[in-house]
Amino acid sequence: PPGWGPPALRCRPCRVVAGHGDLGKYLTVEQLRDLVRPSPATLVTVLKWLRGHGVEDCRSVATLDFLECSITAERLLPGAEFHRYVKGQRSVIRSPQPYSVPEELAEHIDFVGGLHRFPAERSVVSRAWAKEGMESHGQRAAFHLGVMPSVIRKRYNMTKGDIGLLPNNSQACAQFLEQYFHQADLAVFMKLFGSSFAHHTEVDRVVGHQGQGRAGLEASLDVEYIMSTGANISTWVFSNAGRHESQEPFLAWLLLLSNMSALPWVHSVSYGDDEDSLSQVYLQRVNVEFMKAAARGLTVLFASGDDGAGCRRVPGGNHTFRPSFPASSPYVTTVGGTSFKNPFLVTTEVTDYISGGGFSNVFPMPDYQVDAVRSFLRSAPKLPPSSYYNSSGRAYPDLAALSDNYWVVTNRLPLPWVSGTSVSTGPSGRGAGPRSARC
Ligand SMILES: *[C@@H]1O[C@H](CO)[C@@H](O)[C@H](O)[C@H]1NC(C)=O
Ligand SMILES: *[C@@H]1O[C@H](CO)[C@@H](O)[C@H](O)[C@H]1NC(C)=O
Ligand SMILES: *[C@@H]1O[C@H](CO)[C@@H](O)[C@H](O)[C@H]1NC(C)=O
Ligand SMILES: *[C@@H]1O[C@H](CO)[C@@H](O)[C@H](O)[C@H]1NC(C)=O
Ligand SMILES: *[C@@H]1O[C@H](CO)[C@@H](O)[C@H](O)[C@H]1NC(C)=O
Ligand SMILES: *[C@@H]1O[C@H](CO)[C@@H](O)[C@H](O)[C@H]1NC(C)=O
Repeated sequence: PPGWGPPALRCRPCRVVAGHGDLGKYLTVEQLRDLVRPSPATLVTVLKWLRGHGVEDCRSVATLDFLECSITAERLLPGAEFHRYVKGQRSVIRSPQPYSVPEELAEHIDFVGGLHRFPAERSVVSRAWAKEGMESHGQRAAFHLGVMPSVIRKRYNMTKGDIGLLPNNSQACAQFLEQYFHQADLAVFMKLFGSSFAHHTEVDRVVGHQGQGRAGLEASLDVEYIMSTGANISTWVFSNAGRHESQEPFLAWLLLLSNMSALPWVHSVSYGDDEDSLSQVYLQRVNVEFMKAAARGLTVLFASGDDGAGCRRVPGGNHTFRPSFPASSPYVTTVGGTSFKNPFLVTTEVTDYISGGGFSNVFPMPDYQVDAVRSFLRSAPKLPPSSYYNSSGRAYPDLAALSDNYWVVTNRLPLPWVSGTSVSTGPSGRGAGPRSARC
């Protein structure tokens, strides 16, 4: 059972980091462990429960607040009865029956997941894609040459000197769903587009499994653009292989972060789920993981999603917008998308119509954005009816950058017209407001 720490973390580390005078005084993984480690009572109760079912083979993480064990879940969660469900290529294991947990354990477990909920239809809400079919962008082809590092650097006023200068700068992106990058693609990309700034041509470290086979578009662009805006900076890739049968693909990655003492400072992630497809207890626990990362001084950037405000259809009721998570977490920095107003020139940007944005239905609005959001809601010219969104929630994105018409090298070939807020999440620019979508 992940997360048997008491909810002590809910406030403490945020105060440690954000309190006046404490800014920048980040915690080591050992200090974090002392803050989040389970109480002796929790440990005794949980270990007794596990041992009572013959579970001995468990691995902990450095912060001690996760325990990973191989278990026979049907025995541990009485009532549960697992079956394999198949849909097309996908297969998941779920229990159609209710389960129970001994009462004395309830206060020691944050959530039970992966038993009942089926994966959402679209588990990736933010992901780059290449536009296809000449007819649709025959016109676009006549527009400017597309976004490449020189265009981003020009637009965001980055000079030759705006590169990493210290050896302890570091950054990473996390990949899921069998997305792999190729070092050779990065080399071709830098040869084509990297001549005007100092840069690295290799990813320094892959954490996890880097599979063979074709490169993924998402992985290629994440690596190529983080390394050309965060140029001359040591870069890692966290490669989380395999499709998780549950809806919780972030846990494996977050567990890894909790188990490593030396980590890159900046993490960029282009991945998310519909907020309402996840249980609230799970959302709260993942949010705590983001607080832990923040307390260590890590910056975690998430793409805001590519479906505008999203749409949740309510049969017989009123439709509402549909926020995505982790974009909606107040403990990450969420990045939306823009496109050039004049597609011929490197000029001002407007909101990219795909850019995810909206309000969380789970996390209340944090203090730091109250003024900005209130003034946006007061002055925005054409807001959708307020019944579509929950303006008491955390608003996102926090900032936005170009997300349209990128060049990406993948499987040795330069590919134009790649779009998605995932491409803006590496380089981060100026703000854009949430926009309405058809719903
Ligand atoms: C955490 O790291 C330690 C030491 O590197 C390892 O023994 C342990 O198995 C890891 N825990 C998990 C859950 O992977
Ligand atoms: C870049 O510099 C120009 C001229 O100083 C300024 O007008 C513009 O706002 C700057 N752009 C950004 C993204 O900071
Ligand atoms: C790149 O970063 C290294 C430190 O990691 C620094 O020594 C070097 O001067 C930087 N390169 C340039 C061209 O500034
Ligand atoms: C990074 O390196 C510089 C110079 O080597 C040093 O002054 C600084 O304290 C280091 N910062 C961190 C966060 O380790
Ligand atoms: C749908 O919205 C309308 C107008 O805002 C409201 O009168 C009605 O009660 C709503 N219906 C439901 C089921 O919430
Ligand atoms: C609106 O958001 C708040 C959090 O700010 C939440 O407590 C509340 O349940 C949400 N309302 C709806 C209808 O989802």
